[in-house]
Amino acid sequence: MVLLSTYTLILSLIRVAVSRPFTPRQDSSVSVELDGVTYVNKGLVGFGFIPADFRESTGDTLGGIGSAIAFKQGTYQVLANGSATGTIVVHPDRGFNIDGTVDYQARQFEIDVVLNPYYGSDDLDFEDAQKTVQLTYQRTVLQFDRGHTRTTGLDALAVRPAQSGFPSVVLADPEMPIASEQQPQLTIDAEGLVANSDGSYWVSDEYGPYIYRFDSSGQLIQTIQPPDAILPLDSDGNLNFTSEVDPTTGRTGNQGFEGLTLDPENNVLYAMLQSATIQDGGDDKSTSRYTRLLAYDVSNPTVTRPSLIGEWVVPLPISNSKGNTRACSEIHFVSPGVFLALSRDGDGRGGDDTESKYKNADLFSIANATDIHGSKFDDPSNPIAKKGKLDKSITPAEYVEFVSFIDDDQLARFGLHNDDPDDQTLLDAKWESLALAPVGDPDFPNDYFLFTFADNDFLTTNGISVGQPYDAGIDVDNQVLVFRLTLPSVVPGSVEKALGISA
Ligand SMILES: *[C@@H]1O[C@H](CO)[C@@H](O)[C@H](O)[C@H]1NC(C)=O
Ligand SMILES: *[C@@H]1O[C@H](CO)[C@@H](O)[C@H](O)[C@H]1NC(C)=O
Ligand SMILES: *[C@@H]1O[C@H](CO)[C@@H](O)[C@H](O)[C@H]1NC(C)=O
Repeated sequence: MVLLSTYTLILSLIRVAVSRPFTPRQDSSVSVELDGVTYVNKGLVGFGFIPADFRESTGDTLGGIGSAIAFKQGTYQVLANGSATGTIVVHPDRGFNIDGTVDYQARQFEIDVVLNPYYGSDDLDFEDAQKTVQLTYQRTVLQFDRGHTRTTGLDALAVRPAQSGFPSVVLADPEMPIASEQQPQLTIDAEGLVANSDGSYWVSDEYGPYIYRFDSSGQLIQTIQPPDAILPLDSDGNLNFTSEVDPTTGRTGNQGFEGLTLDPENNVLYAMLQSATIQDGGDDKSTSRYTRLLAYDVSNPTVTRPSLIGEWVVPLPISNSKGNTRACSEIHFVSPGVFLALSRDGDGRGGDDTESKYKNADLFSIANATDIHGSKFDDPSNPIAKKGKLDKSITPAEYVEFVSFIDDDQLARFGLHNDDPDDQTLLDAKWESLALAPVGDPDFPNDYFLFTFADNDFLTTNGISVGQPYDAGIDVDNQVLVFRLTLPSVVPGSVEKALGISA
């Protein structure tokens, strides 16, 4: 009896010693409830950046990387001291395009990450804060259209006809956005990324808006085309993929598939528009909150064309003042029916204003939402929300605010701030990516790190864009934040499965 309890005591002492490096010491958790489950934000635990003028192996400035991120399969691991390492694959959008679109080939970068989570309540200075997330660029993988033709980031002014056999031939492409008849390259503005267990990647874009699958060498192998209601159609009902002029119906220019994520247990790929389609109120920020989430069955994509198996309406948050939509730059699967959503304004370092009012990783649930896939709403003549007023027959997702990136106390712990002064320690404006990974704390098995990278729009005073030097007048670093969250609805082992690691 005595022996046993001594043994138990020793065991628990060992447990305390082992779990100490993991245990959050600050007490500023924020909880929200959704579907009867309590989700907890335990605060910011890491910050790092890649300098604004860093050049990747092609010689171009490395930038825009927050557009999409995913851990490379099988690389993530938690160390005994509570640190974590892995290789993050990041996808920039279409290059430095402040003065017009450029002939920037789609590519992704592999970056080694070491996270040394900081749980203290004292404020670190900016120099020490950077040591919590160390980033080492490894390599660039360029992406190619059929026939190993390079892709481009130029505006999509022309349409390549569908390949013969589309859609019955599973791997045939639909009508594709190309730069022009004279320059017929496939044009991609990538915004979402999912790493598959076979080494291939799903990449979502804003022109189509399409979802492409590239093999591990960057070769296009498959294209998913959404229903007519999402496609950019002109007044004659013809496809026009330009991002410069809004279509008559379908996705709004530059508001394509920003969100892409996978349910790894059920092999369902989810894509979400950044804000409403034109017919659903997308032509005005004050009416564009009702966006659409689409679900595709990708359990056997090379044998069966991924089919649309679900579609729901998600009500994005709106500003208090003008009722303008906080458009959504990324989603991440949490558990069946539940997702994280990165919705925000465009203010902060590199934005219009230094003071950001909303930058959140929120939660939404489609548990009680109406599935509209295959209904009349997939025809552009039947809006789900004419002029932004939701059709009465539709129950939208339940959306709750969760993790704020602009919490002053949390930012101060890492030497960062919101609002003036406009310097290197100001939080970036455009956060656009989310990735979850286990904390590995035996005392908190439902705790996950949430990694997020900012898209700096390639803003640097010392840049190279497609071989040409440029000066954007400001240096905006490629910032990374890491939060620690408790996500009780996560199916045990599913995050590990998505990362290609063992639980
Ligand atoms: C869904 O409906 C059930 C039953 O009415 C309710 O208990 C639950 O809270 C609802 N969930 C959401 C996310 O609205
Ligand atoms: C944990 O161990 C790794 C590997 O030895 C090391 O790189 C890292 O700095 C350590 N973390 C801390 C917080 O000491
Ligand atoms: C699409 O619209 C743009 C802008 O109006 C125009 O220049 C282009 O020719 C159109 N493309 C097609 C394929 O109609």
